[in-house]
Amino acid sequence: MTQPERDHIRFLLGGRARHLRGVAPTRTVLEYLREEEHRTGTKEGCAEGDCGACTVLTASLNEAGDGLDYHAVNACIQFLPALDGKALLTIEDVAGADGGLHPIQQALVDHHASQCGFCTPGFVMSLYASYQSRRGDAAPPPLTAQAIGQLLSGNLCRCTGYRSIVTAALQALHNVAPDLGTLDQDGATETVQQLQAWRASGPLHFTGAGQRFYAPRTIDALTELYAEHPGAIILGGGTDAALWVTKQLRELDTLIAIGEVATLKAITMAHDHIRIGAGVTLTRAAAAISAQYPELEELFLRFASPPIRNAATLAGNIANASPIGDAAPALLALDAELELRSVHGQRTLALSEFFLAYQQTALQPGEIIETLRIPRRTPDLTLAAYKISKRFDQDIAALCAVFRINLADGLITTARAAFGGMAAIPKRASACEAALVQQSFTAKSIEAAAQALQDDFTPIGDLRASAAYRQRVAGNLLRRFLLEHEPGSGPVRITRHGR
Ligand SMILES: Cc1cc2nc3c(=O)[nH]c(=O)nc-3n(C[C@H](O)[C@H](O)[C@H](O)COP(=O)(O)OP(=O)(O)OC[C@H]3O[C@@H](n4cnc5c(N)ncnc54)[C@H](O)[C@@H]3O)c2cc1C
Ligand code: FES
Ligand code: FES
Repeated sequence: MTQPERDHIRFLLGGRARHLRGVAPTRTVLEYLREEEHRTGTKEGCAEGDCGACTVLTASLNEAGDGLDYHAVNACIQFLPALDGKALLTIEDVAGADGGLHPIQQALVDHHASQCGFCTPGFVMSLYASYQSRRGDAAPPPLTAQAIGQLLSGNLCRCTGYRSIVTAALQALHNVAPDLGTLDQDGATETVQQLQAWRASGPLHFTGAGQRFYAPRTIDALTELYAEHPGAIILGGGTDAALWVTKQLRELDTLIAIGEVATLKAITMAHDHIRIGAGVTLTRAAAAISAQYPELEELFLRFASPPIRNAATLAGNIANASPIGDAAPALLALDAELELRSVHGQRTLALSEFFLAYQQTALQPGEIIETLRIPRRTPDLTLAAYKISKRFDQDIAALCAVFRINLADGLITTARAAFGGMAAIPKRASACEAALVQQSFTAKSIEAAAQALQDDFTPIGDLRASAAYRQRVAGNLLRRFLLEHEPGSGPVRITRHGR
């Protein structure tokens, strides 16, 4: 039975139900928290997802629908409808009912891990997300300083220094024992029941401040709405789109969110490829892709930060056609394909044919990316990904290179060299690839391929890197690919400390 549409956003804030009618759908969670709820513990530093001062936690029903998944997200770039059907927790919800500090807060105090304190609520919330996940995980991943560094890569502190923060984090999280039986001490059972009850209601569709918002539940409803409103913005995680509002002050007339379409949130394994729905977050997509291709794990760990990856989608990173997006070079090197859909039907397109010109794609009016198809690993494959940026974490690439070769009887049968940051679109280097095919994987063939890169690209210079730097580094990365994967020597990783 089709459920009637719902005209208000419903969520739990600190365990209490909120029903919002008539709000602007592009109002951010941060604005709402500070201005309406006066929960001013959540800070605004950058309003663009970079500093982590606004980190909050959302809890949503898990896949089975009987428990909660906790995610840290940046409140400054989450639009309010993203909370629909979820529970929101802010720094005000962390301390015990008696006002006593939470073990995470206590550890930060004990280790002098806060000075001016502006960043501290954000650090607490990122750690609290991990704390909650570890409590619900019978076999939580090992805790190391490096893991804490990755967990906190989206939280910036300008005055304390990270050593004391990392020490406090290690102590607080080390003491978390899986606590599967007693989670309802935090009201988790009630939360699950409330979210389950809400899930049975109809799809969200409302107008606020003259802006329309739709969150259809089926792919057909989604494409029909897009056909009716061809100028609408398709909203994935909104980590790009929110900045159009918070930084460019754009007014978005109509938004169609894809996050409620269950089929778009699926990751499935076909016999020769992985299918990743357009609504799958980068956190989930990265885990699935890295399981097949561990060589890409670092690239995804360096993609923004955990709160961004918890909201952003892989499809959004392709659809935005950014020349410096991190996922495109990797997916181009793997010969990924896109399933596109509109009211006129579905078609499959090679990713290499998707990017047409600067921020222009082959998407037709009313057409969306429905699924990404990534070939499964084959045994003869050698793969490497390199992201060159000024900072290791949370930085946009000056250039990104992903190389893949398949070898048979000592000869390269297939070569892929895909780059971001070298042209107006993410692009394969066809002359470079041609120079490698049917050659052995040696310094001689790599040198010829590096020279061919001159024919493939005429990069531009900008604030991230000069044109000459980009051209030179592109060739050097190819040479590094050989040094790290020379036949006979096994894979090695060259770091700044050497091989
Ligand atoms: C702080 C910060 C750090 C970042 N760091 C990185 C980084 O390290 N590397 C990197 O590559 N990017 C980075 N980004 C950019 C951004 O997070 C990614 O591009 C992200 O994957 C976008 O996905 P989204 O779901 O949030 O897209 P959205 O903002 O929802 O959408 C982006 C665009 O794609 C369109 N779109 C989305 N889904 C579909 C679909 N299914 N079909 C058709 N069109 C669609 C939207 O209409 C919009 O035009 C960063 C962003 C921020 C704010
Ligand atoms: S205010 Fe900086 S990440 Fe949100
Ligand atoms: S304590 Fe001042 S910014 Fe972190």
